[in-house]
Amino acid sequence: MTEPSAQEHTTTQHSSANVEVDTSYENDSSYGDELSSYSTSLTSSVLDYRHENGRRYHKYRDGSYLLPNDEAENDRLDMLHELCLEVLHRKLYLAPIGKPQRVIDLATGTGLWAIDFADSHPQAEVIGCDLSPIQPTLVPPNVKFLVDDIESEWAYERDPFDFIHARYLAFSIKDFGKLIKQCYRSVKPGGWVEFQDWDGYPYSEDGSLDDTGFQRYYDEANNAFEKAGYEVRPGPKLEEWFQDAGFVNIHVEKFQIPHGVWPKDKHLKKVGTWFQAQSEAGLEAGALAALTRYEQWTKEEVILLASQARADGRKRNVHALFDFYIVYGQRPES
Ligand SMILES: C[S@@+](CC[C@H](N)C(=O)[O-])C[C@H]1O[C@@H](n2cnc3c(N)ncnc32)[C@H](O)[C@@H]1O
Repeated sequence: MTEPSAQEHTTTQHSSANVEVDTSYENDSSYGDELSSYSTSLTSSVLDYRHENGRRYHKYRDGSYLLPNDEAENDRLDMLHELCLEVLHRKLYLAPIGKPQRVIDLATGTGLWAIDFADSHPQAEVIGCDLSPIQPTLVPPNVKFLVDDIESEWAYERDPFDFIHARYLAFSIKDFGKLIKQCYRSVKPGGWVEFQDWDGYPYSEDGSLDDTGFQRYYDEANNAFEKAGYEVRPGPKLEEWFQDAGFVNIHVEKFQIPHGVWPKDKHLKKVGTWFQAQSEAGLEAGALAALTRYEQWTKEEVILLASQARADGRKRNVHALFDFYIVYGQRPES
């Protein structure tokens, strides 16, 4: 990949005017089958997890992240990794990074991105950090995982990175602007930062999402997250945050991600299948802490909201889409 010239600024949109519906699916009684067939050393206090409403949550900086860190959630994150690889045609990143030596994956989750990156870049030393130590222990020798809070002040400026990567921090982070400025200060001159993130609110191009349980779920859950101070729609704002931080050669790519097997296009159908699988696995987990801790819902009310969202999201005539953004930029050489 060639390095872009200084100050170049590009935007790519991966969507046609409309995502075409595969109408044969609307009348196919086997609809849904395709989905089911896809279907360090630590102190004990970090592992002393919080248990609530039948789910397990991180302990370090207790309460600062509202999704669980149990097996079911970790399986969902692994599905999400496969979804992102499918969207990017098996690429892990889009920035023209060359051969970086020092790399960090912020809020790495189960660490699959960091492990895959370390495997494919044996020259690089890769760090994955997260509030939860949920990463595997059998990993390539050039990757290590740390428990860390990326919203706290960083100590990395003294030993900066060649490449900083962050994926899917929507619903996790309160101050993206501050985080991206921290990245700027902690990447070497000429180094790259890439964020891959959602606009976490669904839409449809044909009105089929209106008044569904799926839309109500996002109205209720997003409202609770926003009231608690979290950014739920960072994707479309990333470009501005990169500009404000001082990055150059900023590049933006936007992908439309269908929910379900309804698109006619084969690639989008596969993407939509993975997306629906991980979405269904995460509906209850996604809203449970936000609505019970901040909005006084009961566990049973959240389960009902999630099951109505799941049922409507499965309907063959509901054509939900989300936008996913990839934005990368370079710290100027001088
Ligand atoms: C939705 S998951 C995404 C995980 C991973 N980046 C991926 O793409 O699969 C969000 C992750 O952010 C972590 N997280 C949330 N707030 C954090 C913080 N302040 N510092 C470090 N990690 C955080 C959570 O523990 C969780 O693993």
